[in-house]
Amino acid sequence: MRISVIGCGYLGAVHAACMAKLGHEVVGIDVDQRKVAALSAAQAPFYEPGLEDLLEEVQSTGRLSFTTDMSTAAGSNVHFICVGTPQKKGENGADLSYVDAALNGLLPYLSPGDVVVGKSTVPVGTASRLAHAVVDQEPTAHLVWNPEFLREGHAVSDTLKPDRFVYGVSGGSEEHAAVAVLDEVYALPLSTGTPRLVTDHPTAELVKTAANSFLATKISFINAMAELCEASGADVTRLADAIGMDDRIGRKFLNAGIGFGGGCLPKDIRAFMARAGELGADQALTFLREVDAINMRRRTRVVELTRELCGGSLLGQRITVLGAAFKPESDDVRDSPALSIAAQLQLQGAVVTVTDPEALPNAARRFPELHYEPSTELAVQKADALLLLTEWNQYLALDPYDLAGSVANPRILDGRNVLEPFKWRAAGWIYRGMGRP
Ligand code: UDX
Repeated sequence: MRISVIGCGYLGAVHAACMAKLGHEVVGIDVDQRKVAALSAAQAPFYEPGLEDLLEEVQSTGRLSFTTDMSTAAGSNVHFICVGTPQKKGENGADLSYVDAALNGLLPYLSPGDVVVGKSTVPVGTASRLAHAVVDQEPTAHLVWNPEFLREGHAVSDTLKPDRFVYGVSGGSEEHAAVAVLDEVYALPLSTGTPRLVTDHPTAELVKTAANSFLATKISFINAMAELCEASGADVTRLADAIGMDDRIGRKFLNAGIGFGGGCLPKDIRAFMARAGELGADQALTFLREVDAINMRRRTRVVELTRELCGGSLLGQRITVLGAAFKPESDDVRDSPALSIAAQLQLQGAVVTVTDPEALPNAARRFPELHYEPSTELAVQKADALLLLTEWNQYLALDPYDLAGSVANPRILDGRNVLEPFKWRAAGWIYRGMGRP
């Protein structure tokens, strides 16, 4: 099939490459000339394992190209909208200006029978509005809402082998003409048994925000339990292991620590609350305000624990923060709890050095006032305390005996509860976890 992908950021670049891998002829369209140039040279504009290899592989087949020229969309009959929907400045709602601009740019190039597929995360009600614009322009064209559930760091495999497909079509019928078109797009993963659900537009939009809200709630639940564990001397990691053995609960997304961040969960729960308010259903989501508050409290808690670890004052203390990305295998620092904690410590008088294998350039753009050191070995020299805030494998593999000789004071705060406390204590370290005795 001939496919256009509009917006080549995280979602779109991966989607375009994966659609070409599935055998389609794909053009990726973006307004950013630099992004287009990088992608055309098989360079990913962000760190995502496997993406550059995939770009190289599919570009050599001639099935994938990138351009800034929207008129090239005229050669395709399926058009994916993959632009961002960031949080509005100073408000909780989602900024839909990129989605609107993408669709308005595309409309003049639609042909009879074309299918426009929205993948961006949008407030419920957006798809119906956009569907009207599509039909006004081209009465035989269709709009499908097809939410994307990919995780950063696993984006390629999540796109090629997703857990499920959701197609939101006007009326929600399996017989809708666009269903067969999307089935052809995803023929390969569907043939291996990936489930596919057809819904109406609002349900498809809500599936995405509901899923992210559930995940955020799960993380905040276990972080609330961590607060209770701290108050009572219990161990939240053992608690999570034990409750997670109940199939109905499950162990995934029950890792207590410094809380969630990234370009999705924080902004999606806020946009969801804002949209519920507009719909007169705000009471239904007031619990998400608590989910957000528990999450933000984790950051303050780390600052307090670091102060305790440093003997009561942060002034002049040399703190090394291991990890700046919002999670490992990513260079994304959007709403990264690690970076936010590093900045708060610096503001409170600590001398902070941040290290990370991939995210330092992005981190330095966001917080230029922090000190960055790419080498872990150099970053930990003479530190008064280490804070493990992003659980990259190389930090998990650090040897407490080796490290003890480099730091000024062997103190470590394990913000992700991923280190073995006995091992670190045996090597002479003062070890603190999050919600662990
Ligand atoms: C998320 C959703 O998982 C994905 O389905 C959606 O498409 C986009 O948003 P992502 O933002 O890539 O994906 O990250 P995810 O793996 O969900 O982690 C989000 C945050 O939660 C990270 O900061 C992570 O460190 C944190 N987290 C995750 C925890 O603190 N504890 C956990 O148990 C799991």
